[in-house]
Amino acid sequence: MSLTIKIGIIGGTGLDNPDILKDRTEKVTTTPFGNPSDALILGNIEGVPVVLLARHGRKHNISPTDVNYRANIWALKQEGCTHVIATNACGSLQEEIAPGDLIIIDNFIDRTTKRQQTFYDGHTENFKAICHLPMEPAFCQDTRKIILETAKEIGVNARDGGTIVVIEGPRFSSIAESNLFRSWGAHVIGMTSIPEIVLAKEAGLCYGVIAMATDYDCWRDIGEKVSHKNVLEIFHQNVQKVLQLLTALIPRMGRKDWGTAMEDAQALAKNSIFH
Ligand code: ADE
Repeated sequence: MSLTIKIGIIGGTGLDNPDILKDRTEKVTTTPFGNPSDALILGNIEGVPVVLLARHGRKHNISPTDVNYRANIWALKQEGCTHVIATNACGSLQEEIAPGDLIIIDNFIDRTTKRQQTFYDGHTENFKAICHLPMEPAFCQDTRKIILETAKEIGVNARDGGTIVVIEGPRFSSIAESNLFRSWGAHVIGMTSIPEIVLAKEAGLCYGVIAMATDYDCWRDIGEKVSHKNVLEIFHQNVQKVLQLLTALIPRMGRKDWGTAMEDAQALAKNSIFH
């Protein structure tokens, strides 16, 4: 049986307001956790309902620390989303991942320090329990798989798997930090995947990330070190790849038989709550 799906797209740096939805309408909303980063953009891609949200706001004026991740994920959940595809600019920590490459990450190392990682904070109405959520696998396997299959079908190169180190930011890393993360075996580095991955899972959503390497951080002896300017430049030069992938992916997700993936995601979230 194929269930109805609705897909949230969280647009990261460089993809704050992509023009890929048909029949766009805007909806200002709020949640028990406060306001999301911006209005939700409702629409569809080939008839598959999509809800778009700019992670940093459409004016890109919210820093990684100040993004209200809980409100963003809950707003998508409230709107009826079953899936979330997030886009992310990241730095490469490995020679073989070059600026412009897409990576469908499958793991993370959390180096954030100032973010609320759970809806179950003990005081928000209806969220007074404790949620002990398993993190293996960190991502929805079916969602990752269909992103990779779509990329292959349309001839867009995308790396299968990789570990992202998520730093608090907003500063970039020192070279000592960058080398430390490399020694841990991390592949890429970013500032926003945590707590987004965790909260999407707590909300019972099927979540996957399309990450784009925009730089080599600062560990390499040769070439430019990361700067905000080159992150934006490289992202804009390669953004068509991400848009092409999303445009092909959403209709395929709509046609896919998701089996028990959605129920499984919801059951895992529910069964992780400790009353
Ligand atoms: N986003 C893009 N490049 C990055 C880097 N080198 N470190 C952290 N976040 C990033």
